[in-house]
Amino acid sequence: MKKMVILTGAGMSAESGISTFRDSGGLWEQHRVEDVASIEGYERNPKLVLDFYNERRRQLPTVKPCRGHELVAALEQHFDVTVITQNVDDLHERAGSTNVVHLHGELMKATSTLNPNDPRQIVTLDADHMDIHLGDKAADGSQLRPFIVWFGEAVPEIERAAYIASEADIFVVIGTSLNVYPAAGLIQYVPSHAPIYLIDPKEVPWNSLHRYHHIQKGASEGMEELLKMIVLKAWRNCSR
Ligand code: APR
Repeated sequence: MKKMVILTGAGMSAESGISTFRDSGGLWEQHRVEDVASIEGYERNPKLVLDFYNERRRQLPTVKPCRGHELVAALEQHFDVTVITQNVDDLHERAGSTNVVHLHGELMKATSTLNPNDPRQIVTLDADHMDIHLGDKAADGSQLRPFIVWFGEAVPEIERAAYIASEADIFVVIGTSLNVYPAAGLIQYVPSHAPIYLIDPKEVPWNSLHRYHHIQKGASEGMEELLKMIVLKAWRNCSR
């Protein structure tokens, strides 16, 4: 089976009702990123940061995967698919994707403030205990914090993601402004023979020499179009 790698960002979940970050009305217009999504912000005011993520987490049970998430999951019938997502929601998994790498962490997980990437400290929160409060402790006794990669922190999954990108036969980018590194740099690892498809309703400034096919649509409509293109290509190859 051919390897398809799908890099997703906030636009993937926009049609499910989760705000993007940098669009107008996006999260970073309502909150200062350095206050709620940086390690320094957490050290200055942990309660503000815990509350910000508690609110995001409480939204999860109220939203559902969109058609785009479902079509991404359905591709597993025809391709060896890995989703590399910058999103911290669980909508890819809930749509049925079985191979998801979360570059920026997961909202439904919590970890230790002292050793955030130690697997022994990472716990999954359940629907009855969604909030993290000041005073909640991780296994190592330090304050429990969201399992989120904040600005100023290393991205532990990036090497694995770069390797996965380097093995792609087809690479698809959905709903990311490609503003945030190292995630945005993954495209550089895509082999030159692999076609790159970009699904985003807006122009995305690519500062690379990469050739790509822009499907200028939202995630769901864009995925429908991508599927048609791929089926057509396979059919043309067969009839040669
Ligand atoms: N379908 C597809 N794409 C969409 C849709 C949609 N319905 N609506 C908006 N978009 C696109 C926007 O045009 C934009 O290019 O999604 C992109 C969202 O970009 P950002 O808000 O910058 O989100 P993202 O790229 O995921 O941000 C990366 O920044 O703050 C951090 O950690 C946060 O993981 C996040 C990272």
